[in-house]
Amino acid sequence: MSEQLSAQPTHTISKPHLLIGGITLVSILMGGLVYFIVFNQKPDISRFDIVKGESIYNNVCIACHVDGRFGAPKVGNHKDWAPRLAKGLDNLFHNAWQGLNAMPPKGGQTQLSEDEIKDIVAFMVSKSW
Ligand code: HEC
Repeated sequence: MSEQLSAQPTHTISKPHLLIGGITLVSILMGGLVYFIVFNQKPDISRFDIVKGESIYNNVCIACHVDGRFGAPKVGNHKDWAPRLAKGLDNLFHNAWQGLNAMPPKGGQTQLSEDEIKDIVAFMVSKSW
């Protein structure tokens, strides 16, 4: 009985294969980690007035950003915001200020100050993480 068992062919994995497999696995894990860090890092928005941002958002920006009108990134939808934020918070501020395609400059409210725009964008981002 024991003789029969030992006569079974054993499947051994060669060392080079193990090495390649290991390197591939580590690469995939590292890639996933980098992707996770780049796209999921919660931005530091502690210096902004989120409460004020929310109240202006509810009067102005909500018109398009609550349901993605004209292709606007939906507030509360992480997938909509992550790739945009990956270009930096300042880039979001800039585009909210200047406008971007169907997004009117300052959401169409030209009286809004730079600080107010930043507070609103910070609120929108905070809700989408
Ligand atoms: C008339 C509809 C509309 C209103 C009102 C509006 N947005 Fe937008 N917004 C859009 C659209 C559409 C996009 C997507 C533009 C694109 O990527 O082509 C967008 C994109 C953005 C982005 C992402 C920019 C980027 O770099 O990807 C920010 C930030 C933003 N809006 C902020 C605001 C703020 C703040 C307000 C209110 C002051 C506002 N929006 C009001 C339509 C609107």
